[in-house]
Amino acid sequence: MKKIEIKSARFVISNTDIKKCPQDGKPEYAFIGRSNVGKSSLINMLAKNSKLAMTGSMPGKTLLINHFLVNDEWYLVDLPGYGYAKRSKSQTEKLEHIITTYVLDREQMTLLFVLIDARHEPQKIDLEFFEWLGENGVPFAIVFTKADKLKKTQLGLNIKAYKERLLEEWEELPPVFVTSSETAQGRIEILEYINSINETL
Ligand code: GTP
Ligand code: MG
Repeated sequence: MKKIEIKSARFVISNTDIKKCPQDGKPEYAFIGRSNVGKSSLINMLAKNSKLAMTGSMPGKTLLINHFLVNDEWYLVDLPGYGYAKRSKSQTEKLEHIITTYVLDREQMTLLFVLIDARHEPQKIDLEFFEWLGENGVPFAIVFTKADKLKKTQLGLNIKAYKERLLEEWEELPPVFVTSSETAQGRIEILEYINSINETL
C-alpha cells in the first residue's frame, strides 16, 4: 500500500442541494454525527489545516454540505450535525432533509464516517442512525472522537462497552477508529483506510 500523504486540501463548494455538489465523479468520504461531536475539527485534523472547515464550541456550526478536495483526487465532505435540541422545528427538518438526501442519493459517497463522542454512553439517536444506515445499505465506519478528554483506561472501557452494545444488534462491527483532533490520534489510520478504498476504485 502506498504511503498516504496530503499534498493539498482545498475548499470547493458549500450548498444545501446535492444536485449542486461536484459532478466530477471523484470518490468522497463524508463525516456525520451529532452536533458538536467534532466532524469539522476531524476534517481539519486529517488535512492538517485548522482553517479548512469552520468549527466552533456552539453546536450547530455546520449548516451546509461542504466539499474539500484532497490531492485533486478525492473529497472530504463536512455535513451538518443531527440531534441539536435547540433548533427550531423547521430548521431541524431542513437539516434532516439535507442529511437524508445526501446520504441516500449521493452516488459519489464512497463511505460515511459516523462520529461518536468517546466520553458518552451509547445514545439512542446514534443507535437509531446506525440502524437506519443498515436498513438502507449505506457503507459506514465509526469514529470515536475527543479521545484526549479521557484517561486511557476509561477510553478503552467506553469503546469496549460501545462495541458490545452494537453487537447486541449487529452480527459484525464496521471498522472502528479512535481519534483526537487535539493530538491527531487516529489520523494515519483513517487516511490509510481511505487510501486502501481509493486503490480498489
Ligand atoms: P457542528 O458543525 O455544530 O455539527 O459540530 P462539529 O461536529 O463539526 O464539531 P466541531 O468540529 O465544530 O467541534 C465542536 C467543539 O468540540 C469545538 O469546540 C472543538 O474544539 C471541540 N473538539 C472537536 N474535536 C475535539 C477533540 O478531538 N478533542 C477536544 N478536546 N476537543 C474537540
Ligand atoms: Mg461542523
